[in-house]
Amino acid sequence: MIPTITLNRFIRQEEKAHPYATGELTDLLYSIGLAVKMISHLVATAGYKGLHGYTDKVNIQGEIVHKLDQEADEILMEILSSCGHFGSLVSEERDQVVTTPFESKVAKYAVAFDPLDGSSNIGSNIPVGTIFTVFKRKTPEEPPGIDDMLQPGRNVVAAGYAVYGSMTSFVYTCGSGVHGFTLDPEIGEFVLTEEEIKIPESGSIYSVNEGYWELWDDKTRDAVRRLKESDNPLGKPYTSRYVGSLVSDFDRTLRRGGIFLHPANKKRERGKLRLLYECIPLSYIAHVAGGIGTDGSVNVIDIEPKSIHERCPLIIGSKKEVEWFLEILNNNQ
Ligand code: AHG
Ligand code: MN
Ligand code: MN
Repeated sequence: MIPTITLNRFIRQEEKAHPYATGELTDLLYSIGLAVKMISHLVATAGYKGLHGYTDKVNIQGEIVHKLDQEADEILMEILSSCGHFGSLVSEERDQVVTTPFESKVAKYAVAFDPLDGSSNIGSNIPVGTIFTVFKRKTPEEPPGIDDMLQPGRNVVAAGYAVYGSMTSFVYTCGSGVHGFTLDPEIGEFVLTEEEIKIPESGSIYSVNEGYWELWDDKTRDAVRRLKESDNPLGKPYTSRYVGSLVSDFDRTLRRGGIFLHPANKKRERGKLRLLYECIPLSYIAHVAGGIGTDGSVNVIDIEPKSIHERCPLIIGSKKEVEWFLEILNNNQ
């Protein structure tokens, strides 16, 4: 019988490995785990609760807000702001940083999240997810604010994501190993399914929306074309997979290897994905798992955000494919 190690028990064990841990990071990860379980239930039942439609709002990204985007955002805001350890919160669905009242000095952390990733897939039973990034606030003795969020990915203290699919999975890291959990709906707990997930050195899958072909520069086109032919690290055509939910495309890349990209294009020179709550957390996870995430020239975890909703091109996955792709982009071959 494999021992049932729940997410909370695993987080607690990780805490014990750090003699100076105060238990606050443990407590806040419990809160994130609770919020994700609530969103999982919301996504699973949204169809008959009339939550598949749109609100009348347009977010700062210029996108119409789905009802589920808003509901997931409200769950995370409510659970995290009441957990007492977050001073600053950033959500894809909110224009400004949300700061919690500064009465308690324990508000040591700042979190950024994409409450519902892959919204365009809502209503067609394609997996969607939630992505989060946790930083220690730069100045906990001062009131929280935007500066807490504008930190490079190397400062991340925890990052993770959930995928609401045929099962609800949860992957997170606090910097020592990337660990995977599966929600057991019968007991309402996330149960450990994989420890120390490592991205394969190389893979056989490439993942990109080729509908942007006309908008890409010549080097991007050349690299993608070579992935479809044989002049590439695999020596034969890669298989193409593209879900259109970043969490699903990344989760597959994390486990199977290969390369995912949402590159810059002529209409969006800094791409479509958001740096703070999509590219940084997934690039940090990729980094801990032995892979790499770049914006086409630098490692994403070395980029210091200038604003909370700034965008970032993303090329992420197995080191072999990403480094090969970078050489073509930077014209070394
Ligand atoms: P979100 O639903 O949070 O706005 O994210 C959507 C993102 C990401 O999930 C996915 O990889 C990408 O949009 C798909 O973009 P295209 O439809 O342009 O391929
Ligand atoms: Mn997203
Ligand atoms: Mn989203």
